[in-house]
Amino acid sequence: MPEPTTGARTHRLRVVEVVAETADAHSLVLQAPRESADRFTYRPGQFLTLKLPGADGRPAARCYSLSSSPHTGEPLKITVKRVAGGYGSNWVCDRLTAGDELEVLPPAGTFTPASLGHDLLLVAGGSGITPVLSIAKSALAEGRGRVMLLYANRDESSVIFRDELRELTEDHPDRLLVIHWLESLQGLPAADLLAAPLAPYADREAFVCGPQPLMDAVEQALRSLGAPGDRIHRERFFSLGADVFDAPAVPSGTAAEGGGTAEVELDGETHTVAWPAAAPLLDVLLAAGVDAPYSCREGACSACTCRVVAGEVKMLRNDALDDQDIAEGYVLACQALPLTDRVEITYS
Ligand SMILES: Cc1cc2nc3c(=O)[nH]c(=O)nc-3n(C[C@H](O)[C@H](O)[C@H](O)COP(=O)(O)OP(=O)(O)OC[C@H]3O[C@@H](n4cnc5c(N)ncnc54)[C@H](O)[C@@H]3O)c2cc1C
Ligand code: FES
Repeated sequence: MPEPTTGARTHRLRVVEVVAETADAHSLVLQAPRESADRFTYRPGQFLTLKLPGADGRPAARCYSLSSSPHTGEPLKITVKRVAGGYGSNWVCDRLTAGDELEVLPPAGTFTPASLGHDLLLVAGGSGITPVLSIAKSALAEGRGRVMLLYANRDESSVIFRDELRELTEDHPDRLLVIHWLESLQGLPAADLLAAPLAPYADREAFVCGPQPLMDAVEQALRSLGAPGDRIHRERFFSLGADVFDAPAVPSGTAAEGGGTAEVELDGETHTVAWPAAAPLLDVLLAAGVDAPYSCREGACSACTCRVVAGEVKMLRNDALDDQDIAEGYVLACQALPLTDRVEITYS
């Protein structure tokens, strides 16, 4: 079982139920303890970061999107699909049973619609259905718009949430259309083949999650249909490399080494912290006891995204934000170093 809590931000959730969705995908229904329940409010499309006992004795961090919706009253649920030869997914599917506890970071991520009030185009492949289902259920429960979901799988037996999707279409026949794409029947979903089914929906904001080739094909198809790139949102699944749960070591810094002050607005509070030139903003905040969001701490997941309101920063690495985000002042706190004496940041 997971080691005792070491990080300030992890919480222990109880596994209430394990549901075998398909031969190789399990859902875990989770319950947060009463005292930290407010840390587990979330937006559709967000994910949890699990702290699993690693094979090498160090914790292994794995992210799993919430397949539940925050707008339907259902409990927290993640869905994990086994990856051949993978450590974490098989550990979760083989080892966890009802009554176990899991140590996790609170929900994070930016793969979430700014508004649920508009028509949406959703595309998922395999386990990529998890955040997409959360968005679909939320839009149907909370919004008024229509939802088209194209869901690609190897074959019929690998379709996760088949019954839930059927029930949703029965409940919302005028608002939800689900198109299944089975590779066993239709071949690989290549861009030229996807253009026809996607064409009627190309003007909608799109949320795409699945294997890289599928996401590339969908983006290529949508762009060929005239969809602007900033309306196509992608969620990339990968395994975290670093031990993200280690307490950050923040260099003390001297005047000669530069650095300055960060004024950070988070959850309605303003925190003023000294910001040494060589320390990423996230490390500075965590070391100061500020409950700043994060997951990968390697510039890849966007969980730590915040916005520079005044001053300047540079990012060491960025595999998560696009040019438009950067032009709007967004930065990754886990990669941000100060370039000016004073920097104002907001997480709102
Ligand atoms: C934001 C986010 C959300 C996610 N949501 C979900 C979700 O909802 N559901 C879900 O199922 N997954 C999700 N993932 C993916 C998940 O976090 C894991 O990446 C996935 O479960 C695989 O982890 P693993 O430990 O089983 O595989 P890993 O051990 O990380 O291995 C991955 C692959 O690499 C190969 N490999 C591993 N080590 C080596 C090596 N030394 N040499 C060669 N090959 C190697 C393995 O054989 C395997 O094919 C998400 C990821 C992110 C970032
Ligand atoms: S924590 Fe993942 S990009 Fe910063």
